[in-house]
Amino acid sequence: MIAYEGRGAAGPPVLLVHGFPLDRGMWRGQLDGLSAIARVVAIDLPGFGDTPPANDGRAPFTMDAAADAVIAVADALGFARFVLGGLSMGGYVAFAILRRHAHRLLGLALCDTRAEADTPDTQRGRLADAERALAEGPGFLVEPSLERLLAAETFTLHPEIVKTVEVMMRRSTAAGVAGMLRGMAERPDARGLLRGIAVPTIVIAGAADVITPPDGAQKLAAAIPGAEFAVIPAAGHVAPLEAPDATNAALRRLIRRASAAA
Ligand code: MLT
Repeated sequence: MIAYEGRGAAGPPVLLVHGFPLDRGMWRGQLDGLSAIARVVAIDLPGFGDTPPANDGRAPFTMDAAADAVIAVADALGFARFVLGGLSMGGYVAFAILRRHAHRLLGLALCDTRAEADTPDTQRGRLADAERALAEGPGFLVEPSLERLLAAETFTLHPEIVKTVEVMMRRSTAAGVAGMLRGMAERPDARGLLRGIAVPTIVIAGAADVITPPDGAQKLAAAIPGAEFAVIPAAGHVAPLEAPDATNAALRRLIRRASAAA
């Protein structure tokens, strides 16, 4: 059973998929800030937030399986078509939805993500981390991930956001983390999909994102027909949580374009 949280009674459906190793809490500014114009739903992928892991973490939880889990939520909610937002790993899931269920999309927000597959080095690192998460729990990921996920401004001006992200990471399960690391490691390259994206799209990048930096995001946007590219000041890799107002302004533009095109 996939846990989710929704707000808003009218307007186009918007489904939001979190990054790794986070949960739906990273979208709280969008649940609050977009519900006047859309029916906004943020989900917890298996093993994160309130959703139990899909397996014991010894097998991959693939991006395809994650895509099907998102579609199951859309089906349960009666969302025939929806605007999809995915951050980083959520973007990898969005690419799997494009492969498997493109007809369900009204619009697409790719936040702080990349279309490239992992390098062999990154894959090896993920598989080692998956083993370690199962052996000792995923807590070892928290400190190094926190440093890289958030902008320097967030650490100085918003310690409460740093705490929120830390709490989210500490709630993730070993099986969820291990399965997702294996799933991300085997995801295919998505660059071949980009020129075929036929729905209004925005690519959003935190100005201080060191994991998926803005120059890569700009190239991603340039490869998608008609895509808008938005840089969010004073934000790192978790721009929707670090700078909700600027991110919401960008997402509102997408929601309007998607409604007009529907
Ligand atoms: C994320 O934020 O989801 C991660 O940076 C994705 C990844 O590890 O590639």
